[in-house]
Amino acid sequence: MTAEAIAVRNCTELEDFRACVALQKEVWGFADNELVPLRIFSLAPKIGGQVIGAWTGGTLAGFALSIPGNRNGHPYLHSHMLAVKEPYRNTGLGRRIKLFQREDAIAQGYELLEWTFDPLEIKNAYLNLERLGAIARRYNINQYGITSSPLQGSLPTDRLVAEWWLTSKRVETLLSSGKHPAFAGEERVAVPADIYAWKAHPETRQKAADVQLGNREKFLAAFARGLACLGYERDANGNGTFLLGRWDEDWSYAGK
Ligand SMILES: CC(C)(COP(=O)(O)OP(=O)(O)OC[C@H]1O[C@@H](n2cnc3c(N)ncnc32)[C@H](O)[C@@H]1OP(=O)(O)O)[C@@H](O)C(=O)NCCC(=O)NCCS
Repeated sequence: MTAEAIAVRNCTELEDFRACVALQKEVWGFADNELVPLRIFSLAPKIGGQVIGAWTGGTLAGFALSIPGNRNGHPYLHSHMLAVKEPYRNTGLGRRIKLFQREDAIAQGYELLEWTFDPLEIKNAYLNLERLGAIARRYNINQYGITSSPLQGSLPTDRLVAEWWLTSKRVETLLSSGKHPAFAGEERVAVPADIYAWKAHPETRQKAADVQLGNREKFLAAFARGLACLGYERDANGNGTFLLGRWDEDWSYAGK
């Protein structure tokens, strides 16, 4: 299955939004009362947000949902969900949806797209930092409370905030050359590949909780020192490592 056979476009019709809600349920396995409902999908594009779908024939293979945000007077987009249906994963479709999202955001006048991600998800961290060029320098402890999603394994929903500065040197260099600009690594935070298995089984869940807690402390300490996650390494066994350093660009809405 290649991503090329799939059309990525803005969703506009109720039927599109219904398909997004159904795929959301399939991908995360949420209980019905934890699903983002149809009415939010249909509202988002009307208020400066985005619902982007990837379609193959009549099947929705993936979607992204963003809602508008505002920080210190600066409008930005918060990308709340990105999902790719199982058989279509690891073919570049998630990245393709994000790149469409970027173009659409720039066309709407946005500079920044943000989203949160679970720092224990090795694949997502790699996609966000290495393939898209997002950075992360904020950490939210147990952002959504403990959810019913099996992906979460009953752990607190700790999240890193990905900041995707759409026209930064970092992103433009990465998109044009395949590599982000070099930086001096000052800190590393490791996530073992076994984390998925540990989360999945009640008898090993404590090990996953220990990694989460240890890494939480490392991230909070590093961010307090002004470091940001700027890179991500994967080894041959599937282990992941965040690489932290000082970002040499001054994109920020924090103090502005
Ligand atoms: C996250 C998700 C949207 C990614 O979609 P996708 O279409 O598989 O993503 P892509 O193929 O564009 O990119 C994934 C990258 O991670 C790599 N990857 C795959 N498995 C990996 C692993 N175990 N560890 C590290 N990287 C991995 C892929 O090789 C690919 O990189 P490449 O382009 O250099 O080959 C999809 O996996 C998904 O729906 N997951 C469940 C929901 C979720 O977690 N959503 C995101 C948070 S809201």
